[in-house]
Amino acid sequence: MGKDVIIACDFSSKEQTLAFLDRFTGNKPFIKIGMELFYAEGPAIVREIKARGHRIFLDLKLHDIPNTVKRSMAVLSSLDVDICNVHAAGTIAMMQAAVEGLTRPDGTRPLLIAVTQLTSTDQEAMERDLLITEPIEKVVMHYAKNAKAAGLDGVVCSPREAAKVHEACGGDFLTVTPGVRFADGDAGDQKRVMTPAAARAIGSDYIVVGRPITAAPDPVAAYERCLAEFLD
Ligand code: C5P
Repeated sequence: MGKDVIIACDFSSKEQTLAFLDRFTGNKPFIKIGMELFYAEGPAIVREIKARGHRIFLDLKLHDIPNTVKRSMAVLSSLDVDICNVHAAGTIAMMQAAVEGLTRPDGTRPLLIAVTQLTSTDQEAMERDLLITEPIEKVVMHYAKNAKAAGLDGVVCSPREAAKVHEACGGDFLTVTPGVRFADGDAGDQKRVMTPAAARAIGSDYIVVGRPITAAPDPVAAYERCLAEFLD
């Protein structure tokens, strides 16, 4: 898999989502389907978007006992998505179970990545709510190494962590990074943002971009700008 821009389709209905995708008459963007759309429309929306020729990152962030995650991953595997994910906090055993569940009888499987620490969690919340007192960067690297040890293909992380993750886990360990904004854009609720060009320079493999594309007056032009800045 090469470098690419993944559009976060954070819509709550099939109608909105398909109307958005209908604008893309040329190449078919890589699409992220998150909990909002999946819980609203179920697996049918995954099949429909896949049938339209898009690659799909199904961002459901599974976190449960290993057996439940394994069986759920087997279901997701049959949807033929390209990337799916779990929380690294579920432990190495849970991540190994996820890989097992995802692997089809012929040995193929979608890519599997782990969420390290959500970018909405800061040092203070981690210490206060989770009783984790190590520096957050160390926790993120530790979780990334756990994901690698469990046989996963990469992590979701902030673009600022991408270079360190590659250093610790190898250049072919994928870094999928949200929190991307154009230099002249509005950061919204994202705290630590980076431009597509900066994310590229720091070594992100995939950038996940939502509102800078979905809320743009011309989403196709915004997507193409993003591609140009990230890939050129
Ligand atoms: O609209 P925006 O570009 O901020 O969307 C970013 C997408 O990436 C959203 O779907 C959000 O849920 C997701 N995400 C994130 N930070 C994480 C993990 C996922 O922003 N740490």
